[in-house]
Amino acid sequence: MKRTKIADVLQSSKVGEQLLVKGWVRAFRSNRFVQLNDGSTINNIQAVVDFENFDEAILKKITTGASVALTGTLVESQGSGQAVELQVSHIEVLGEANPDDVQKTVMQPKKHSLEFLREQAHLRFRTNTFGAVFRIRHGVAYAIHKFFNDRGFYYIHTPIITGSDAEGAGEMFRVTTLDLDKLPQKDGAIDFSEDFFGKTVNLTVSGQLEAELAALALGQVYTFGPTFRAENSNTSRHLAEFWMIEPEVAFNDIHDNMDLAEAMLKYICQYIIDNFADDLKFLSEREAQEQASKPANERSEMTLLERLQFVVANDFKRMTYTEAIDVLMNSNHYKKKKFQYDVNWGTDLQSEHERYLVEKEFKRPVIITDYPASFKAFYMRQNENCEPGKQTVAAMDILFPGIGEMVGGSQREERLDILKEKMAAFHIPEEELWWYLETRKFGTVPHAGFGLGFERMVMFVTGMSNIRDVIPFPRTPKNAEF
Ligand code: 4AD
Ligand code: MG
Repeated sequence: MKRTKIADVLQSSKVGEQLLVKGWVRAFRSNRFVQLNDGSTINNIQAVVDFENFDEAILKKITTGASVALTGTLVESQGSGQAVELQVSHIEVLGEANPDDVQKTVMQPKKHSLEFLREQAHLRFRTNTFGAVFRIRHGVAYAIHKFFNDRGFYYIHTPIITGSDAEGAGEMFRVTTLDLDKLPQKDGAIDFSEDFFGKTVNLTVSGQLEAELAALALGQVYTFGPTFRAENSNTSRHLAEFWMIEPEVAFNDIHDNMDLAEAMLKYICQYIIDNFADDLKFLSEREAQEQASKPANERSEMTLLERLQFVVANDFKRMTYTEAIDVLMNSNHYKKKKFQYDVNWGTDLQSEHERYLVEKEFKRPVIITDYPASFKAFYMRQNENCEPGKQTVAAMDILFPGIGEMVGGSQREERLDILKEKMAAFHIPEEELWWYLETRKFGTVPHAGFGLGFERMVMFVTGMSNIRDVIPFPRTPKNAEF
């Protein structure tokens, strides 16, 4: 007999059908009721084992964590809590699990701290919470591909090993095959001509520059790949290895760019609402329980599901950096000196400022545009007609409640002369990016794009508050286990 997935059994199998299900035992109560899960859904199937009909030896092996194959008939359930259950006629134990050992793991069905679960990242997939999170993570990835495919974008694979520092922030992981104990020297310095690529290379911090090259021929493209940043920030929103989605569109300006980003973020939320109802319900209830133990001012006014619905139904607030500074300076929060960092035109917004705008002032996602050129990347397009001393660029950041910066993007500098000036000002040698500059020599056009932090989006749609809990095996400073 062929195995039926538990999701399919619960959704479409009929009472009276003979079925084979396989999975991992979540619990075995009263030597009679097996709760079985196979990962296809958060819901378990209840399987009823009449112990009179089976050897005690086999029943002893049905323990939490063990894997079994159960054959039986689907019947209406006698108990409450489930509509149907499997009346078992045959049991095969596939893999045993020693109860004393299981006791020490996250499989033990009781409440565990997320920190403890992280230490057992290899087993946390077996829990309801992480099952839900990783099913939804898949759903977000699929929704993104579908969104772009449906709109005629091409998925471009940009290199993971690269010689460029796209963001100019210098937070890169070096890639080398040189023997670190015996580095080749030349003229008193390390001789990288002997290295694998004959020069210094690093893991990519962004696929944007290469995506721009593709967009300037294919029109609309996006990347979706791992990116690496050696920033030593041990926060709940930073990973050293994270995934980023970077669309890039020829002929788009900053307004088209905002429209595209807003449409994409709404689409993802709607897709998860429509396709992951059970997981979302579980995570929503889980969050509600957690909220109850928090002080009132830290509780979210909306449930997880309501927050997703809100994002879909409401326009994002759009404002310039200059307007945002005004709002902050006119706030009571500022007047009562409650911000730790000062607010003034020309310095970057700190996360406390972003959170104030999003969570207290506007209570919705906010898109901030036209930041000062001084602290944004070299490739962002210089705005015209700026006040003297207040040069801005056509940048945009999208800030989300509970997350902070979800998206960063811009219209790109398509004018060769200005781009060269910017690179000089940022001390980026033209030889390093000669290929990037060439696109501005041959049929340059206005274009724009942005980067969505994939894990930050998964945090938003699952309600998880630490980024380490939305990627299977997080990479953070001093941590690369598994
Ligand atoms: O704002 P960032 O640095 O922008 C870029 O890399 C551009 N090249 C994107 C583009 O225009 N194509 O990063 C984009 C997003 C951030 O808004 C944030 O959501 C996420 O990537 N991000 C991180 N996520 C997790 N851990 C980190 N260390 C992150 N750094 C950035
Ligand atoms: Mg950014």
